[in-house]
Amino acid sequence: MQLTTKRLILRPWQESDAEDLYNYAKDPDIGPIAGWPPHKSVEESRSIIRGVFSGKECYAVCLKENGKAIGSIALKLNGETDMTEQDDECELGYWLGKEFWGQGLILEAARELLRHGFEDLEMRTIWCGYYDGNAKSKRVQEKLGFAYHHTCNEVEVPLMGEIRIGHTNVMTRERWFSLDGNCPCKKRSCERHGKCDECRAHHEKSKRPRPCER
Ligand SMILES: CC(C)(COP(=O)(O)OP(=O)(O)OC[C@H]1O[C@@H](n2cnc3c(N)ncnc32)[C@H](O)[C@@H]1OP(=O)(O)O)[C@@H](O)C(=O)NCCC(=O)NCCS
Repeated sequence: MQLTTKRLILRPWQESDAEDLYNYAKDPDIGPIAGWPPHKSVEESRSIIRGVFSGKECYAVCLKENGKAIGSIALKLNGETDMTEQDDECELGYWLGKEFWGQGLILEAARELLRHGFEDLEMRTIWCGYYDGNAKSKRVQEKLGFAYHHTCNEVEVPLMGEIRIGHTNVMTRERWFSLDGNCPCKKRSCERHGKCDECRAHHEKSKRPRPCER
């Protein structure tokens, strides 16, 4: 699966991205704040591409102009995240090479991935978190329209061998489609937004009971 935005291509990671990945992921300002140690070699980056980055909804964030990977973004599905045990819920995670910060690029990638999650994968809820003190990631989640859900004062960060304070935010389907411009019908300036068949179909999916609730 490949997704595109105005400035970016989101595509699966390839082993040939290992050098670009290492170039950004070796930076101590990127991984540790997100809960993982800086990469130590191109070989380690390659093995992370083969392992962690081979998830079904994990994408290399690439610049359209040259196709080079400059960051990573993923919907971590049930089994890949400890934030949910439901198949219609997942966790959004992301990072970007430092020289590309401050241009709204992750915001652009995340909006497309949230659209994909709700419209194509029919997710009911998408979770997103950050560790206390990560003001940049907090700000990204605010700009995306996430709502605060809870704070946990003792979260294990196994790859760093630390205990931290973790904040968790949530985006429900209802919230996503009600945010400005997100409903596919509204994007086409539908005059019956909220009442047309497309809106009604999205609304019905939001209310659909889970198998265990039937
Ligand atoms: C979080 C991250 C992905 C944001 O990416 P981004 O594309 O720079 O995001 P934005 O351009 O929307 O900037 C978000 C906020 O970061 C801050 N910011 C951006 N660039 C900055 C810089 N160079 N220095 C300091 N702060 C900066 C600003 O407060 C900005 O908010 P504003 O637009 O309201 O001013 C990026 O900082 C990153 O990769 N951080 C390390 C990994 C990480 O924290 N991942 C998330 C784990 S939960």
